[in-house]
Amino acid sequence: MCGIIGIIGTNPVAPLLLKGLERLEYRGYDSAGIATLDNGRIGRRRAEGKLFNLADLIAREPIVGTVGIGHTRWATHGRPTEANAHPHASDRVAVVHNGIIENFRDLRAELVRGGHIFETETDTEVVVHLITEHLNQQMSPREAVAEAVARLEGAFALAIIFAGRHDLMIGARRGSPLAIGYGDGEMYLGSDALALAPFTNRICYLEEGDWVELGQDAATVHDASGAVVTRDIKQTALSGAIIGKGQYRHFMQKEIFEQPAVIGDTLHALVDPLRRRVELPDFPFDLSAAPRLTISACGTSFYAGMVAKYWFEQIARQPVEIDIASEFRYREAPLPEGGINLFISQSGETIDTLAALRYAREQGQKILSIVNVLESAIARESDVVLPTLAGPEIGVASTKAFTTQLTVLACLTIAMARARDAVSAETEAALCTALTEVPACVAEILNHDTAIRKIAHFLAEARDVLYLGRGSTYPIALEGALKLKEISYIHAEGCAAGEMKHGPIALIDETFPVVVCAPSGPLFEKTASNIAEVAARGGSVVLISDKEGIGKMGDYAEHTIELPPIDPFVAPILYAIPVQLLAYHTAVIKGTEVDQPRNLAKSVTVE
Ligand code: AGP
Repeated sequence: MCGIIGIIGTNPVAPLLLKGLERLEYRGYDSAGIATLDNGRIGRRRAEGKLFNLADLIAREPIVGTVGIGHTRWATHGRPTEANAHPHASDRVAVVHNGIIENFRDLRAELVRGGHIFETETDTEVVVHLITEHLNQQMSPREAVAEAVARLEGAFALAIIFAGRHDLMIGARRGSPLAIGYGDGEMYLGSDALALAPFTNRICYLEEGDWVELGQDAATVHDASGAVVTRDIKQTALSGAIIGKGQYRHFMQKEIFEQPAVIGDTLHALVDPLRRRVELPDFPFDLSAAPRLTISACGTSFYAGMVAKYWFEQIARQPVEIDIASEFRYREAPLPEGGINLFISQSGETIDTLAALRYAREQGQKILSIVNVLESAIARESDVVLPTLAGPEIGVASTKAFTTQLTVLACLTIAMARARDAVSAETEAALCTALTEVPACVAEILNHDTAIRKIAHFLAEARDVLYLGRGSTYPIALEGALKLKEISYIHAEGCAAGEMKHGPIALIDETFPVVVCAPSGPLFEKTASNIAEVAARGGSVVLISDKEGIGKMGDYAEHTIELPPIDPFVAPILYAIPVQLLAYHTAVIKGTEVDQPRNLAKSVTVE
């Protein structure tokens, strides 16, 4: 999941490329680089690691030119070194690529046999040599690119510049997103609208198989057959301003503390507080008639879907199937006629979730998505989109996107329950009231930040941590484990509390902290037994509960985190907050890169 950008105009392009790459670093930060045309010759600057290393290099060794391409890398093939950093180039062409060329080994062998000398370990370099080979055969840049692309298998978004051609940049996409930006005397290519927001909000998304010839003032889009086509130019609402951390130390911390506001914004768009009723936008299909709702997502978004399965089944009496997108897309699941498929994605660009959506579309399902980026591929390919109003989420570890996803899902549950005559108006009103109290409850929980930070010191010493939950807080145990492992690098796993006796309890000893999410309610007593069993084996319990629960089981716990009494319906949203804070503070104590953890990227646009 890399980020690519291209600019063709009349201004010095290096500083503009760096500005665009700042907006793309969330897609990968193993290395970065740019290439420009310096008096017709291809020049490059590339650096390992974060973008500031490239900026420092360019400050030391300036590069001129008004046409250029740039790249932030999340390494797939080839170590994250300067040599493997994009752009890759010959003396005739420079290329940046997002995706994976799956047949690169065969192509590389063929090109080596033809006398080409490779400099890198990457898949992308075969694109450079293929285009160069065809240019050497006197093909035009357009013909050379078409011939090269026809040989590629796998996913790619490409931006390409040509020695001696200040009037031409070519872009092509198959399986990875690519957008055209329309400026005044300057044109752009980018992985997404966020990258181009500093320059323009007039954006055109290329469709599958499209490629484009860009000049300084115009774009000619071709479809996969080569025919010239017209694609819509949209006005995005994205701001060009660089999002800052404000008074916070990390974006993740800022985004955790933004949750009362953004959950409130999301509720405001979906719930009528006076009528205490959910008001969704019009749907082009009937929410009451689906024989089954199938949910697919990845990572934290998948855990939001897991919570929603409890809600849809218990409150709306809607049969639900759920699967991680990377499995669902290959499982060839038979899907019922008239079924609805729900896709949940913060970025709206996760390739596994997008592929699952396309499978469901092929099976004639109605497509509903919940995304945080309205201009994203998943949003564009859905029948209905319900946006989370979380605002840009920069921290790789998802926090405010998760709780706003849960907020939208809770509202969708109520709307579906009403459509299926599964709830009375009074029940709907009570559920809406519980939802409208969530922002204030979240704000109250955030006031415990200092106490939670102290408990993080306890977790930071651990080698392994187990998270337990039951019912709709079982997915919160999974989410808490994911948060901890992905930013503090401590091994953690989530487990259904009822599963402890079927194996995991063998792990427990005094070195093994167990974080238990246990709101008071019908399942509490069952989880109380698990707490006692853990304590009886010397395990250290961190109990997250309310006053009543801590009153009953607090004596078994090393540490407790008391949450306000709440309606069990909204418990998953509220119990997400302490597990986010535990992970955040533990990572800070461990000294890891909280906002850009190793090996990760914010948007997973490769399989
Ligand atoms: C969440 O903290 C992770 N960074 C990751 O699991 C993420 O939720 C997953 O990659 C899905 O991303 P999406 O919501 O943008 O589709």
